Amino acid sequence: MTGVSEPTPEPAPGNGADGPPRLQRRRLLGYAGVASAGAVVGGVAGAGIARASTPVPVAPQPAVIRQDYSPHETHQAGITTPVPAVTRLLAFTLTELAVEPLTKLLKLWSGDIQALMAGRPIPGDPTPDLARTGVSLTITVGLGPRVFSLAPLRSKRPDGFVEIPAMAHDRLQERWCGGDLVVIVAADDATTVDYAARRLARDAATFARPGWVQDGSWRGTDASGEPVTGRNLFGQLDGSGNPSGDLLAQTVWAADPQPWFAGGTTLVVRRIQMDLDFWDRTTAERQEKVIGRRLDTGAPLTGTVETDALDLAAVGESGAPVIPLDAHARRSHPDENSARRMLRRGLNYTSTEVVDGRPVTTAGLVFLAFCADLAEQFVPVQQRLDANDALNDWTTAIGSAVFALPGGFAKDDWIARALFD
Ligand code: HEM
Repeated sequence: MTGVSEPTPEPAPGNGADGPPRLQRRRLLGYAGVASAGAVVGGVAGAGIARASTPVPVAPQPAVIRQDYSPHETHQAGITTPVPAVTRLLAFTLTELAVEPLTKLLKLWSGDIQALMAGRPIPGDPTPDLARTGVSLTITVGLGPRVFSLAPLRSKRPDGFVEIPAMAHDRLQERWCGGDLVVIVAADDATTVDYAARRLARDAATFARPGWVQDGSWRGTDASGEPVTGRNLFGQLDGSGNPSGDLLAQTVWAADPQPWFAGGTTLVVRRIQMDLDFWDRTTAERQEKVIGRRLDTGAPLTGTVETDALDLAAVGESGAPVIPLDAHARRSHPDENSARRMLRRGLNYTSTEVVDGRPVTTAGLVFLAFCADLAEQFVPVQQRLDANDALNDWTTAIGSAVFALPGGFAKDDWIARALFD
């Protein structure tokens, strides 16, 4: 799948003077499932604005399973690479908030990441036979806000790297919030993720205490292993509106970063509880209106296939908008948000505890959004959804954390080294 982008001379509708200047220059439409997010170099195909019912040309998508990734690229793996089946995020708090333990840990982790992603055990590994190639393993490291409160690093904070302001609908629990460091381990199978995560956590133990751990799964392939847009636990295709090609690169990678942050991005992690029982009791027609897309194909209510552009101006016979004014895909759409975009990677989670002899399941989405600039892109869209989004009746954010993700590191180097120059 590929996106369509068309520069136009006039600013996007709703583009106020306060819109992000870099995004204001173009009116950009792009639709691609998150499975295709790795196609950064795939270029932008097609010409003209995609109209409702005009399918966006479909380009080959990168394979999801049985891949090998390198930590030595411009960008860390695990951001625009396809989402594999299993992901674990581990947050840590530095035992001593100081430069020396932080650099020691980053050096140690860089060696671990280099070995593990190449399918080699780390030094002293008690279970070396678990290391293997061809399992789509990615290990991605991020730095939390407290790191940039260290005196030598204060001037190095990436642009727009802010804490997410409180939202009226949030019910945040401390146990799912914050972190000085995050490590995101993803692979085709849970055994590989368990193994790599344990090794990294063990090496962190001298320098940091474990914070939250969030596990999630995603099905980004069809029965034959071909990439498709995955579904969340409401049964919706989730990721269809993600940008691709040039648009993806502009959306995600920091523009004009300080040298240490070249190839970097900022990440927000939201743990969003979903009321599955209430959703189950909602009619399919209402469910589709809540999002503005069909459940079966993921097509906009104004189109026929998933890749059709949303026609936000279309009205039905009654004169009401076909995609309701409070539909989630309308409220979050770039055309209603001064062309603001983000790359979303969702992970489904469930957890069942037996309470008074009865199983009680909580479920939701570990929602990850990557932005060049969190303050300019994610925050205003989240505030708009908080103010009015039909989906809010079924979803509640219970965790929130932000991290700055540096670029990849060279073979003889370690992650984020230039931050400490
Ligand atoms: C559990 C919570 C959520 C669920 C179940 C959910 C579900 C969906 C679905 C089904 C779509 C339409 C398909 C697609 O384009 O991917 C969508 C689109 C989108 N969502 Fe969410 N979402 C959630 C939370 C959020 C949050 C917190 C944000 C950002 C603050 C967000 C931003 C977006 C954006 C930007 C789009 C694409 C709009 C477009 O370009 O058409 N979503 N979401």
